[in-house]
Amino acid sequence: MDLAPPSSSTQADGLIVLGLESSCDESAAAILRRQADGRIEVLADLVLGQTEAHAPFGGVVPEIAARAHAEAMDGLAAAALNEAGLSLADLDGIAATSGPGLIGGVMAALMTAKGLALGSGKPLIAVNHLEGHALSPRLSEPLDFPYLLLLVSGGHTQLLIAEAVGRYRRLGSTLDDAAGEAFDKTAKVLGLGFPGGPALERCAQEGDATRFDLPVPLKGKPGCDFSFAGLKTAARQIWDGLETPTEQDRADLAASVQAAIARALASRTKRAMDRFAEDYPDIAQPRPLVVAGGVAANRTVRAALEEAAGHAGFSLIAPPMKWCTDNAAMIALAGLEKLVRGQTDELDAPARARWPLDAVSAKLDPAIGSGRKGPKA
Ligand code: KG4
Ligand code: ZN
Repeated sequence: MDLAPPSSSTQADGLIVLGLESSCDESAAAILRRQADGRIEVLADLVLGQTEAHAPFGGVVPEIAARAHAEAMDGLAAAALNEAGLSLADLDGIAATSGPGLIGGVMAALMTAKGLALGSGKPLIAVNHLEGHALSPRLSEPLDFPYLLLLVSGGHTQLLIAEAVGRYRRLGSTLDDAAGEAFDKTAKVLGLGFPGGPALERCAQEGDATRFDLPVPLKGKPGCDFSFAGLKTAARQIWDGLETPTEQDRADLAASVQAAIARALASRTKRAMDRFAEDYPDIAQPRPLVVAGGVAANRTVRAALEEAAGHAGFSLIAPPMKWCTDNAAMIALAGLEKLVRGQTDELDAPARARWPLDAVSAKLDPAIGSGRKGPKA
């Protein structure tokens, strides 16, 4: 992969890219312009969620998601152009998530982007959704490479070092469920509805996080991998073992699970911070720890990460919530960075259900690196 920086800043100034996203349950379109000083101007940023369509099923139903994306994408792209006051002719490139994700959904944005690229003669840029998340903090503030990234969403739980655009080193990822899945599935067991993470956080507010003993995943195991399946099962067993659970039981278990997930995330991230500090001894404190993905919205998780970061000489950087969860601005940004480097794609670029971000895992085992069982795996 060509990792060359842009050949000249003037060449990159003013570039405008449309980004499209449809890899899970958010259809999104955004348009960005790169300003002369390298800052990013967001000209349009639209997200259409599908919560109501999936709520009766208690989780994302791939077929429903794919159909909803297919129906939404054209209109969203047109609405984004309209909001930005631009036409297709004003764009310098059209970027779309081309994986990893639910394949029917991924195809909606990718096919729309291909159609627009073909019709307008503008270059297509196929973007790895995870690279979008990895670059998302750079939407709102300048952030130099390298930085440590904890990507923690419904489909992914990974620790990565972002070394440069197009160059990511994975330090660890989940061996089973993603952290968001652990939130969602526990919320389902507790009868808290969909999407589960925010509901569980609300319920936990009234709870005692010390009441239930939950296992510590991968306790004492070296490395930076995660595991959440055991926690989820333990929570279900505790719940099933309560004869007539009360509201207080529900809140106490929600709080205990939330605290256990936060502890697990913080303790594995602590190991990754040590690795980062060893690998980059010259980077001044506080070193950057970025957290992205929907679970970054959780206040207990943030507090645990903030505390761990403070102890390790890092500072926690979290993109604004709208760019933590799935969005198209991060896809447009990754597209822009690739376009600047001349990395455009042919119109036969494939949609990919799996697509590890780091080249080494991609080569060794294409099946790892993207979380295993999540909707996006
Ligand atoms: O990044 P995202 O919007 O989509 C994926 O790429 O998966 O993340 C969604 C995940 C879901 O599992 C959701 O329950 C979780 O993030 N989530 C939360 C909270 N808000 C969203 N989990 C815990 N606490 C929250 N406040
Ligand atoms: Zn995502």
